Formats: sequence, C-alpha cells, structure tokens
Amino acid sequence: MAATFALLLLLILSSSVRAAPDAVVSRIAFGSCANQSEPQPIWNAVAGFDPQVFVWLGDNVYGDNKRPFRVFGRERTVGPWKNVPRFYPSTEEELRRRYQLARAQPGYARLRERAQVLGTWDDHDYGLNDAGKELSGKVIAQRLMLDFLDEPEDSKRRKQAGVYASYMFGPEGKRVKVILLDTRYHRDPLLSDGTILGDPQWQWLERELHGPQSEITIIGSSIQVVSNLSATTGPLFYVESWARFPRERERLFRLIDSSKRPGVLFISGDVHFGEITRFDCGAEYPSYDVTSSGLTQSVENSVPEVFQPLMRLLAILTPTTMRVLSPNCQYKSCTIGTILSWVEPYKYESTSVDNLFCFTEFLSFF
Ligand SMILES: *[C@@H]1O[C@H](CO)[C@@H](O)[C@H](O)[C@H]1NC(C)=O
Ligand SMILES: *[C@@H]1O[C@H](CO)[C@@H](O)[C@H](O)[C@H]1NC(C)=O
Repeated sequence: MAATFALLLLLILSSSVRAAPDAVVSRIAFGSCANQSEPQPIWNAVAGFDPQVFVWLGDNVYGDNKRPFRVFGRERTVGPWKNVPRFYPSTEEELRRRYQLARAQPGYARLRERAQVLGTWDDHDYGLNDAGKELSGKVIAQRLMLDFLDEPEDSKRRKQAGVYASYMFGPEGKRVKVILLDTRYHRDPLLSDGTILGDPQWQWLERELHGPQSEITIIGSSIQVVSNLSATTGPLFYVESWARFPRERERLFRLIDSSKRPGVLFISGDVHFGEITRFDCGAEYPSYDVTSSGLTQSVENSVPEVFQPLMRLLAILTPTTMRVLSPNCQYKSCTIGTILSWVEPYKYESTSVDNLFCFTEFLSFF
C-alpha cells in the first residue's frame, strides 16, 4: 500500500516536470550551427535563460565532410581546374555517430530534461553543403534527424517527405505557434529561381497560417528570410537565403499578408553571426527576421587568429545586408552587437559567450 502510494506520488511529481500542454510558453531559445566534435559551453548561457522551448534551426550537427582548400596538387578543390568537390557526404553509420556525439554534449543533455526541444535542419545535417532536393541520402538523413529529436515512432513527420512541422503552445490569449520549415528536401538548385518549399509544403503552410489563431507565430527557417547579404558580398562570396529565390520569397510574404495573421516573425540561422533584419513591405506590419549566430561556429573564428580583428572590422563595416528592390520599401538590418533590446510584444536578448559573433538568441513574451 505504502509502496503504491509512493509510486503514485513519484508519477505525479515526475509528470509535473514537463509543462502541461496549455502552460504559458514565454521563453524560447534558439540556435544553429553546432559542431558536435567541439566543446559547447554555450548551453550554460541557454540554461541560465531557462527556456521552456529550444529550437534547433539547422546545422545541428556537421554531417558532411570537407576536403582541404587546395588550388594545386592531385585533389584540387578550388578554381576552375578543380577536380574533386570540396564537400562530400558521410555514410549512414558516420552520420548516426555524429548525432550521438551531439546528444552526449553534457549541456545539451541537461537542457533536454528541462525544455521541449524542437528542430528543423539545414544543409550540413541534411547531408551536404548547399544541397537541395537532388540529395540521394535524404530519406535516411530524415530518419536519423528525427531520431535525434526523439520524434515518436508513429509521428506523421516520419511518414512525410521532409521534416517540416508545427506546434501550438499556451492557453487562449497567450498562444504561441511555432512553424518549422524544411528548406532542403524539396529545394530546386540555387540560381534556378525555382521552389524552396515544394508544393505539398506550401499547401501545408497555407493551412497552418489560415488555421487557429495565435498571439505570436514564429516561423523557423534555416536560411535567412529577410536579409540579402549576397547583394553586398557577391561576387566574392554568396550565402544561401530566401533572397536568392526572389519569386519564392515574394510568395511567402504574399501568403502571410493574405492570411491576415497577426504577430508573425521569422527566426533563422546559418550565417555564423547574429543579426536582426526588418522588412516593411512584406505584410501590414514590419516583418522581423531574428538570425541566431552559430552555437559553436563564428565568422570570426573561420580565419586564423591574426586576421580576426580584421574580420570584425569588415563585419562592422559591411553595409546593411539588404538591397532595396523598390525605393518605397524599407529594409533594415543590424548585427546584434548594436541592438540588445526588442520591440513589443517581444523581448529580445542575446548572450555573448566568447566573442563578438558567437551568441545565443532568446525571445520572451507576455
Ligand atoms: C568540428 O570540430 C572538429 C574538431 O575540432 C574539427 O576537426 C572539424 O573540422 C570541425 N568541423 C567544422 C565544420 O567546423
Ligand atoms: C538580392 O540581391 C541580388 C543581387 O543584388 C538581387 O539580384 C536580388 O533581386 C535580391 N533579392 C531580393 C529579394 O531582394
């Protein structure tokens, strides 16, 4: 009898650790670009914020492999005379092992006990740098990624083509909807100005945006939605973004606008620095895109230490990353070195871990 009672008490106690389905979600942390083989001290900062929800925005592990930068020699990875690709995919076994390393990161393991973890992917965890729908290993990659996120075996997310998903949190009056896009599984080649999401995902997104209302709707996209960094940095280098698929991006804003849904904002990752961008002609209200920096990766650390001060300077001097298509339309951008507070109804915080470009991103509401 006493044992039964103790067991019952234990059950009640343990079930109260996880938030009730309609408990208020007021703190969401998010991040991208985490090298599973590197130390990840950034989880301490995430734990300090005590989020109820954490969102992975892609490059959750680095699943592909990179050959050295080589202009001469037998395996040439750079220049018009290159004879091997710079990146190549891993085997299934290797990808699984990398996810295991990521799960074993002690800070992340602790976070999983306290917060609900959601996620989508980007190119490197999908399997290959800049890859889209053509990638042959995508079915296996989807299974391994959903295993990493503890997606239930009977989840419909395991049966569909791609990892897009949506979640509704909170009681009436304080609802937060999180929509996670898959920008890989159906994506046409870069420069094609084709599709990013593919038809089934577009139809799904339309239903999600027209569906039950929420005070706040967060759309998670691995790649930046508002920024057009390539317009500033090309032809030297290009980053992936919605701006490189102008028709698709236009369609996204038209859909949000026609849904009349209030409080839609984007979160994104990928670029290894934090940034907030704002576009005033997407919907009836300004569209914000809050980009997380890398969890381990930073622009600054991509060059040898002697060049890092130069890298900082270049980043600070880089002009606003959007080019204005229409003179009547405002684009604004700031890297988070300069902005630390957020406009209502959101509050925005970022915590620096070791340098200017390695932050973790926090949103709070209500
Ligand atoms: C990840 O970290 C390992 C160990 O430091 C390193 O060898 C590898 O190049 C890193 N990968 C990326 C993509 O940064
Ligand atoms: C992004 O910049 C490129 C290069 O300047 C331009 O061709 C493209 O139209 C821009 N896209 C958007 C959506 O602003």
